[in-house]
Amino acid sequence: MSSPRILVVDDEADLRELLEITLLKMGMDVDSAATVAEARARLAQHQYALVLTDMRLPDGLGLELVREVNTNHKNTPIAVVTAYGSAENAVVALKAGAFDYVTKPVVLEDLRIMVRSALRLSEAEAPGAGQDAAEASRLIGESPAMQGLRAQIGRLARSMAPISITGESGSGKELAAREIHAQSSRAAKPFVAVNCGAIPEALMEAEFFGYRKGAFTGAAEEREGFFQAANGGTLMLDEVADLPLPMQVKLLRAIQERRVRKIGATSEEPVDVRIVSATHQDLARCVEQGRFRQDLFYRLNVIELRLPPLRERLDDLPLLCAAILARLAGPGQHAALGPGVLDALRAYSFPGNVRELENVLERALAFANDGVIEVQDLQLKAARPADPAPAAVAPPPPAAPAVMTPVPEPAAPAPAADTGPLPGNLPEYLSQIERDIIQRALNQTQFNRTQAASLLGISVRQLRYQIQKLGIQAPEG
Ligand SMILES: Nc1ncnc2c1ncn2[C@@H]1O[C@H](COP(=O)(O)OP(=O)(O)OP(=O)(O)O)[C@@H](O)[C@H]1O
Ligand SMILES: [Mg+2]
Repeated sequence: MSSPRILVVDDEADLRELLEITLLKMGMDVDSAATVAEARARLAQHQYALVLTDMRLPDGLGLELVREVNTNHKNTPIAVVTAYGSAENAVVALKAGAFDYVTKPVVLEDLRIMVRSALRLSEAEAPGAGQDAAEASRLIGESPAMQGLRAQIGRLARSMAPISITGESGSGKELAAREIHAQSSRAAKPFVAVNCGAIPEALMEAEFFGYRKGAFTGAAEEREGFFQAANGGTLMLDEVADLPLPMQVKLLRAIQERRVRKIGATSEEPVDVRIVSATHQDLARCVEQGRFRQDLFYRLNVIELRLPPLRERLDDLPLLCAAILARLAGPGQHAALGPGVLDALRAYSFPGNVRELENVLERALAFANDGVIEVQDLQLKAARPADPAPAAVAPPPPAAPAVMTPVPEPAAPAPAADTGPLPGNLPEYLSQIERDIIQRALNQTQFNRTQAASLLGISVRQLRYQIQKLGIQAPEG
């Protein structure tokens, strides 16, 4: 196989030479150009495995090349060299479609990391490769919104640009992040998802950056942090709005410098990690309120991916239900929707989105006869299509018992039909129902325990007790 060919575009002879030598040492073929015009001529002659361009050139901007390469040479990744400290330029280039950037003065180790990851990218795009990932897409749905989302994910997977995923609870943010990773050249490396709201503040630095043996009392062994664990792959910062401000500063530094320092270490180590963040909160609002740093927001929010709520893509219900039922039923078993069930689901607003649909179907299947779910098995709250607000749930009477009945509303039909199968283990069965309901209340209130407790008509203390007893994962909201 011939060596990958790389085009270096820079008008500074010294820097060009340094780049050339480094790339040659890595076993690449290198062409160079000093102007936009020269670069265009080169690009017309050869197919490059990577283009590396300076931002400011005598006859134009590197950004023009970024746009051109993205339009006319879709399979060629292009990276830019930006002046040090110019976060602005880096972000602009990424938004314009640059695959990645290196800062001047160029640190050779960074350059090598970037080039290696770019080359993985063009291999992945050789005909035939990468198809598995696309075919194995677990994001179900053929609505225009989902098709658009999948196309966007395909494009985003090719770049290093930080992505900020927004969407309501249960709408598939983590699934989308996994999909981006799976379709990227990083697929063979780890995907690490971190729930930023679930880590005690005192442990955050150690969890993210790791520590050396003896760095503090209890640090008996050297440990890696999330950044090291995700090296070469993707780090998902989930519920990023929950990061405390001091940690936001440290994280910004790590992302900007692409280096982290373990607690107790004297030197920093380079990390090659793509950052994907997610939140169900409005980050821009958090910035206005002073709860989230503007500079970190700017860094994370280079490209925004919005997941549509389920009620905006109800046409996907049949496919989603089929997939969920197939999974719930298990091999050789059968589960189906009875007449009118799809219509009933369509009339519902799904504040908890796909996760809620999964829960609804799972519970319904438990009540169903012979695996056929009837409308009454769904136990949807009276359909209020116009009102997606969680507050739409009528609180049960004040004297609600600590152990909830499986029926959230008095008007709903009795769950245990005379003919239905009996659960083999009643306490476990009831616990599962309780777990689902508490989880839903927490999801709907974005883990606000006070609100969740009031939705369920129990005290916060009772809720806290049940969360612990039932082993529910619930970050303090
Ligand atoms: N388009 C989809 N196709 C199939 N399954 C989906 C889709 N979207 C979401 N799901 C499923 O719904 C559940 C919730 O998805 P996920 O955890 O990605 O949501 P989320 O937006 O991260 O939720 P939260 O805000 O609670 O963190 C998962 O079981 C996921 O597999
Ligand atoms: Mg999530």
